[in-house]
Amino acid sequence: MAYEATWHANLKVRPRRLRLSQNMRRLVRETGLSPDDFIYPLFARHGQGVKLPVESLPGIYQLSVDNLAAEVREIAALGIPAVILFGIPEHKDWRGRENFAEDGIVPRAIRAIKDTDPDLLVISDMCFCQYTHHGHCGIINTPDNPHYDPALPRGYLHNDHTLDLLQQASLAHAGAGADIIAPSGMIDGAVAAIRSALDNGSAQHVSIMSYIKYASAFYGPFRDAAESAPQFGDRRQYQLDPGNQRQAFKEIALDIEEGADIIMIKPALPNLDALSHLRRNHTVPAAAYQVSGEYAMIHAAAQRGWLDLERVALESLTCIKRAGADMIISYFAKEALKWLGA
Ligand code: PBG
Repeated sequence: MAYEATWHANLKVRPRRLRLSQNMRRLVRETGLSPDDFIYPLFARHGQGVKLPVESLPGIYQLSVDNLAAEVREIAALGIPAVILFGIPEHKDWRGRENFAEDGIVPRAIRAIKDTDPDLLVISDMCFCQYTHHGHCGIINTPDNPHYDPALPRGYLHNDHTLDLLQQASLAHAGAGADIIAPSGMIDGAVAAIRSALDNGSAQHVSIMSYIKYASAFYGPFRDAAESAPQFGDRRQYQLDPGNQRQAFKEIALDIEEGADIIMIKPALPNLDALSHLRRNHTVPAAAYQVSGEYAMIHAAAQRGWLDLERVALESLTCIKRAGADMIISYFAKEALKWLGA
């Protein structure tokens, strides 16, 4: 017996019509990627002619300052408007002196970048974990340093002493030509402290991009790249617990109140809820950091033939933008733009 259709859908609305051809999809696409969206991370270190590959981040290198010029020209030629700079110091100590030294690695790298291309925006990551011998993001309450306070827990990160250091380092980076200071330590009051130091130090023109940062295992490869893994404990006394959303919303509001010009969410893909909240409820530009683990994971699967590198990378970046990012820090930035032919 022949099958007889008994149900006629009679659809007035057929959303598939708008997905039928490549040109139709192009026409109705809400989110596209362009060079304007990207910020590229750079790792600067001491030495001459150094270009050290980071094993867990394929295509990413630690560069000595003399090698930055060529890199900067390539980035600018792709139309990328900004870089974010991380320094690997010569010496580490209890207070991360090299981060606020005028001849420290970051001020030297900033000057080299600006000498090559004064228009390329330089964002300086403002944190102490690369610079302290214990790898934490500020001064730690231990008997071996002058700020030790036996009334406070051992291993506690001294919030307010750390603010002093952040102020000094921000001034050193701004003095070398940084356009944006990006406090990434989740230290209470950091934005207000840095804003005041900049304003009192003839740097009112320098912006602040504040990180809303989760205590994430996705930072693993970065800690190889920046040589900044904590030597004891972890960062959970200052970074956000991945189970919490309301605390992220609170940090966003606080940082804006303290004067942040841009808010950045990281890691990006696991925290699109925070990004979307930021976009919908505030007016400051939103940034997202597709962190080292997000990049490494895609590369590792692609190397095994399990994922298509280009398609997964571009899909991730597109979805980060769709969730509300006005700008994305990504290790894929250069490659993505080559893939897009932008
Ligand atoms: C802290 C800092 C970290 C990252 C950027 N700034 C690491 C951390 O908190 O351990 C991670 C970025 C990445 O994983 O790509 N200075």
